[in-house]
Amino acid sequence: MGSLTPVSADVRYQSEQAFHDQAFEEGTRSKVSRSYDVLQECTNVYAGKLMALAGPGIDVLEYGCGVGTDAFALAKTGSVVSAIDISEEGIRQTRERAAAEGLNISCHQMNAEDLSFDASVFDVVCGRGILHHLELEHAFDQLRRVMRPDGVGLFMEPLGHNPLINEFRRRTPSLRTPDEHPILLRDFELAKAYFGQVDVEFYGLFTLLALLVPESKLRDQLVARLSSMDAAVLPRIGKTARFAWYAIMRMSAPRPTA
Ligand SMILES: C[S@@+](CC[C@H](N)C(=O)[O-])C[C@H]1O[C@@H](n2cnc3c(N)ncnc32)[C@H](O)[C@@H]1O
Repeated sequence: MGSLTPVSADVRYQSEQAFHDQAFEEGTRSKVSRSYDVLQECTNVYAGKLMALAGPGIDVLEYGCGVGTDAFALAKTGSVVSAIDISEEGIRQTRERAAAEGLNISCHQMNAEDLSFDASVFDVVCGRGILHHLELEHAFDQLRRVMRPDGVGLFMEPLGHNPLINEFRRRTPSLRTPDEHPILLRDFELAKAYFGQVDVEFYGLFTLLALLVPESKLRDQLVARLSSMDAAVLPRIGKTARFAWYAIMRMSAPRPTA
């Protein structure tokens, strides 16, 4: 792993690693995953955008891969995939599954805020639910450094503006790390200091209502209908869309490192 700098950051890295090592060992993340069915549209769109960027010989970094979320599908396109995470257990499981599936994925336990890759080596950098675990100045700085000038960054991240979602988060501290910080509009503004182009799409506002219905066929139908409402409304309501649950963020034109 790259060298870790200030002491407070060191403590944060250790706590992130310990939390996720345990979660991946116990497989506890799957216990909350049933709520994520209301984000199906977001997940599908993200996966579609990512696969459109992938292909034979494309150098891709999965940033904060956990147990290798997208690395396997990416490797199957012929992309040259590297996957990093601070969790030793996440990287162990990613490596094990890659070997079992005969996929060539370069897996590294590495701090996302201090990447040990050379500059300008990736065509695509991507991740789900990772940026909000990081100090964004460091993360954006590292991402723009390792991306090629015509490279693309694609991320799917939770948003931090909806008071109801924030209340749920406050009541479920065991599901999250103390330092995570769902993304705010000002964070997208910050990204513009590091990338010439930053585009954001919002997902999961009306679909949140489906969480009131127990898992069933009815809930699936409701999710489909509410997803259509989200798709029709969210792109038209400007900053009000910040009350959605998730965003897909696309960054390109990395600004030169000082
Ligand atoms: C919410 S999980 C998401 C994992 C995976 N992308 C997924 O979708 O399941 C957040 C991930 O960020 C990783 N992480 C947190 N801080 C990190 C850091 N400083 N460097 C690298 N990975 C980090 C955690 O170990 C964990 O795997």
